[in-house]
Amino acid sequence: MALRKIVLQGDECLKKKCRVVTDFNSRLHILLDDMAETLLDSGGVGLAAPQVGILRRVCVVMNEDDEIIELINPEIVATEGEQTGLEGCLSVPGKYGVVTRPYVVRVRAQDRNGDFFEVEDEGLTARCFCHEIEHLDGHLFVEHTDHLLSDEELAEYIRRQEEEEEQE
Ligand code: NI
Repeated sequence: MALRKIVLQGDECLKKKCRVVTDFNSRLHILLDDMAETLLDSGGVGLAAPQVGILRRVCVVMNEDDEIIELINPEIVATEGEQTGLEGCLSVPGKYGVVTRPYVVRVRAQDRNGDFFEVEDEGLTARCFCHEIEHLDGHLFVEHTDHLLSDEELAEYIRRQEEEEEQE
């Protein structure tokens, strides 16, 4: 396994529509292993292939049990509810915005051997499914907000969130 370099906002790779994966071969497996290692190293919760310069419909998401979910040719098949919260991206380091997403997201995808499966999750992982799958069509989370938070606004937002959690 090897760490891959994560490209940053402005790179052409992040604006392209990625191609469908048709060969579930060792090359794909190496990419998936490298992406998992790169994600763990980055401290993020999701990574899409175009972020490491590969224009294929592949992404990895870490759920809240710290399990890596590999999604090949993923599609969102159902959503429920709504959540509004902070979102960031490894390709837009240090920048956060408040983005509204569905609260529950169900995804149909293929695994590394080409077998179809469905996975459903909520909260942060559901947010991550939406974010990563959008990367495969050349979209970034910043398109969902007209305002990225300054350091002061970010600190204030986190402080208020913590206050609300204490009151619950
Ligand atoms: Ni991202």
